[in-house]
Amino acid sequence: MSLVIFSKVHKVKPWLDALRNAAPDVEIATYDQIQDKDKVLFALAWNHTKGIFKEYPNLKCISSMGAGVDHIMDDPDIPEQVKIVRIVDPLLSKDLSEFALAVTMNYMRGLTNYRMLQSQKTWKKRMYKRISDVRVGVMGTGEIGNHVANFLHTAGFSITGWGKNPGNQKEYKRFHGMDQLDEFLKTTNILICLLPLTPETRGILNKNNLGKLPQGAFLINLGRGPHVVDQHLIEMIDNGHLAGASLDVFDKEPLPESHPFWSHPAIQITPHVASITTPESVAPQIVENYRRAIRDEELLNQVDRIKGY
Ligand code: GLV
Repeated sequence: MSLVIFSKVHKVKPWLDALRNAAPDVEIATYDQIQDKDKVLFALAWNHTKGIFKEYPNLKCISSMGAGVDHIMDDPDIPEQVKIVRIVDPLLSKDLSEFALAVTMNYMRGLTNYRMLQSQKTWKKRMYKRISDVRVGVMGTGEIGNHVANFLHTAGFSITGWGKNPGNQKEYKRFHGMDQLDEFLKTTNILICLLPLTPETRGILNKNNLGKLPQGAFLINLGRGPHVVDQHLIEMIDNGHLAGASLDVFDKEPLPESHPFWSHPAIQITPHVASITTPESVAPQIVENYRRAIRDEELLNQVDRIKGY
């Protein structure tokens, strides 16, 4: 049982099948099948029980089952020598880009509103926004954010990006650092958040920053729930500054029934489906990292444990 899956939320059979197919020679199991903790060398994890990894003395590497690693970095008890890697998959970036386009167009064409009017048998036209009417600002211009920005640019949108560090993207103007955040927000009509969740980005979508967006702006959060200060977002919509929001990620998932987002007329909710990792697509890179980890070689897509992504 060298490679073990630690997830309570995934259907594990497709993962086991894809991994065994990619590595017939490797012993692969799920965490509930472990008999000897000493034999576990590589963990594939999603929302694991915090603190457990210190019980595996020979663990060399933990791979996220998705692009985000905040659910691993949240655990203060991961031994220092254990390396952390994440998934970088063109299919994930593509899926996210298509979803970003879908929710952007849904908002611009008011489709959710028409669905609501349909339930009241109401025929009521409203003018729509054209692609040429808006500027989309993509927050987080790493692997995925950059893909989304380029995809929307190709669809004809005027795009700007904002990231932590200067980058060399040529297709769109890119702001960087806290000093340039205000300038980025000031010209953004549709804000798409694709930031990693770190102590610096937690709560970045607060009243102060949302207030810098132009009147009538719209928020799409595809990053992580804690980027948004929920109460501030509701306030900024209710006071008319923002037109609304489309949210795919939440502080607590599933979103609790009592949460006010559920019934807010200007908030569209989707259950963390902007991109879903496809086991067959990512099994080869997981197996490659397993092989590299046991040989103490350089890993693919290793996370900087100080930076947190
Ligand atoms: C999804 O949210 C992921 O991190 O892949």
